[in-house]
Amino acid sequence: MGLLIKNGEIVTGDSRYIADIWCDGEPITRIDSDIQAPTATAEVIDASGKYVFPGFIDPHTHIYLPFMGTFSKDDYETGTKAALVGGTTTIFDMCCPSRTMEPSEGFATWTAQARGKAACDYSFHMGVTRFNGNSAAQLREIVAAGVQSFKIFLAYKGAFGIDDSELYQTLKLAKELGVVTTAHCENETLVAETQQELVTRGTSGPEGHHDSRPPRVEAEGVHHLMSFAEMTGAPVYIVHLSCREALEEALRARLRGVQVWVETLIQYLLLDKSHAELPEFEGAKFVMSPPLRDKANQPVLWNGLRQGLINTVGTDHAPFDFAGQKSMGADDFTRIPNGIPALEDRVNLLYTYGVKAGRLDLHTFVKIASTNAAKIFNLFPRKGTIQPGSDADLVIYDPNYRGQLSAATHLMNIDYNAFEGWPIEGRPSLVTVRGEVAARDGKFVGTVGRGRLLQRSSKNVFDFDAPLASDNNRIALKRVGCQ
Ligand code: URP
Ligand code: ZN
Ligand code: ZN
Repeated sequence: MGLLIKNGEIVTGDSRYIADIWCDGEPITRIDSDIQAPTATAEVIDASGKYVFPGFIDPHTHIYLPFMGTFSKDDYETGTKAALVGGTTTIFDMCCPSRTMEPSEGFATWTAQARGKAACDYSFHMGVTRFNGNSAAQLREIVAAGVQSFKIFLAYKGAFGIDDSELYQTLKLAKELGVVTTAHCENETLVAETQQELVTRGTSGPEGHHDSRPPRVEAEGVHHLMSFAEMTGAPVYIVHLSCREALEEALRARLRGVQVWVETLIQYLLLDKSHAELPEFEGAKFVMSPPLRDKANQPVLWNGLRQGLINTVGTDHAPFDFAGQKSMGADDFTRIPNGIPALEDRVNLLYTYGVKAGRLDLHTFVKIASTNAAKIFNLFPRKGTIQPGSDADLVIYDPNYRGQLSAATHLMNIDYNAFEGWPIEGRPSLVTVRGEVAARDGKFVGTVGRGRLLQRSSKNVFDFDAPLASDNNRIALKRVGCQ
């Protein structure tokens, strides 16, 4: 047994060379030129003319999500199969207990959902959706079990949203435990008040969603989080940042020394506000929070990625069927379940519209879609790179593939594709999870239930010095158009 990958062009966050990779079991065993298969039964893959990337990491998914009166459509089987076909070999799912659940109950619920179903490895960001006398002890245990990040919502009043004293207590605990807190930043009061005003004025369609959560609402959320992070010294990670105003607040805080990482989404890079304004309720397919923005924000986000100011690209994969679920908000945009699915397509879209379109070099592509998440969330170098000892999560990528995205062919359990008909120029021809072939040319061939809950180590190895150096950051602020 064993897996030998020959003649591929290995590309990591900082290196690029042609070599063979030998995997004897789950980790990468050896990288060298002209390796001969040590056993007759080894599977030999010819990767000539193809890239070999480290398995991609989606830092933000909602495979299981009870939300807005319904449940996201994928489960860990359908979601991870789709992820693997698209080259994603590790996901971070948001564990989001309701405010009436204990953290331990929430954690048990999410792990039970994943166990026996996930085909790729996974971890959770542990949602802190309330903080009371019971919380700290339970959260300590969950962190000790290897789930070394929290998730908080400054949005969704009355649902997942936490108040300021809960925010303060959560960040104090995170600081003490040395874990990163990921945060949805929108001011929940501004959202609730503005939604009410729009509804009262007779706005009912999906186009109202954007105006109920304009950029300032998100920027205010970021500003708020930055103040609390500064006061507590806790490292934080802004999820799904969508616009210039919010990025400016994060960068200003970085200049003050706040440890903050930024995630954007493939949806914000490629889709815009006009999609949510499509007639005949079609816009509901494009309702998510924060909302899709004016197109003018897209160059700011691409620039931010190129300059290392934005660190990761995720999907916030939250699939709700157009027919059955989005239509819950047919007469009231505030009831349209929020989310735009993209787990299967993130890597191919980022490669096609980032690398092929000349917006990203190959190393930046690997960093923002894999390596940086592994470093920020304590999985590096087990995940996020290609070196002896790392898990053999590999993506043999065919840059000559040409195809189109469609709900008719995707594996995600959802009745539409937000990128329907979009051409892609490149696709994984083979994907491995810990040395086992899991996807081949758009088909899942792996093992359902083989995915593991990852035990994360306590060391965050992201090099903060470079992006935090004040002079660099000031210059970069100017380059992205911030004052
Ligand atoms: O619209 C979104 N983003 N849906 C998923 C829940 C969340 O806020 O991340
Ligand atoms: Zn969110
Ligand atoms: Zn989310």
